Amino acid sequence: MFKIVKKRDLADVSKLMEVEAPLVARKAQPGQFIILRIHENGERIPLTIADSDKEKGTITIIFQEVGKTTKELGALEEGDSLRDFVGPLGQAMELPTSGRVIAVGGGVGIAPIYPKVKAFHQAGMEVISIIGARTADLLILEDEMRAVSKELHICTDDGTKGHHGFVSDILQGMLDDKSQKIDEIIAVGPLPMMRVVANQTKPYGIKTVVSLNPIMVDGTGMCGCCRVSVGGETKFTCVDGPVFDAHQVDFEELTRRGQMYLPEEKEALDKYKEECGCGGGNSEIG
Ligand code: FES
Repeated sequence: MFKIVKKRDLADVSKLMEVEAPLVARKAQPGQFIILRIHENGERIPLTIADSDKEKGTITIIFQEVGKTTKELGALEEGDSLRDFVGPLGQAMELPTSGRVIAVGGGVGIAPIYPKVKAFHQAGMEVISIIGARTADLLILEDEMRAVSKELHICTDDGTKGHHGFVSDILQGMLDDKSQKIDEIIAVGPLPMMRVVANQTKPYGIKTVVSLNPIMVDGTGMCGCCRVSVGGETKFTCVDGPVFDAHQVDFEELTRRGQMYLPEEKEALDKYKEECGCGGGNSEIG
């Protein structure tokens, strides 16, 4: 059993939890994720390792309550325990040691981009971050992102904070500014956002990576559920990723596959709401 030692509300529907998992904490690296199960009959959900503390033996996870399992998880309190907590899974991200990186995080994608930005910062890179959400109440980790970024730009779709518009608007300004060299761009967020960023940066020939969040089951490369076409080859996000070259990812196929179980997810959520009077989607990593 894995004990929840800390719980914090981040925004409207986003929560942070610190979970006691010393063996996972000992090996965790930026870019990796865990798969958890709340109880014996629970769904397995992948979540990015947002932070880890080897000394305390804890892993921090951040999730948005968007479906049955994430709502169930959000209802747990400090002192409660999780049945399974497997990891670290996936490949650690490659960390360049110098240069200028632009990090683009959208919605709950800000959670998985944070540990990567922190690692870039600690490695001595200059990081310019752009984070966005539908509305100010949904913005998470603003202070944490500011602490590890040279510049932080905020966008909201409805203009309630920062730039009134999309993260891609700010990014375009940076791409057009020829006085500032950009060595790498990392984007994590909803699929449409990552697709836009990939299309936007391709003509500039700037290395761009995305962290993908397809549906997962086993997380160890056996079920094939998380497959994605990258450069015409089939890859498994759980063992080959989750970080891939954005210019090589087949976003159209990924979008189609991501929508396959929407009716079942909705049915499970409606049933859960009915039973508990309150509201997981499978895939939370990115
Ligand atoms: S989740 Fe099963 S192969 Fe990746």
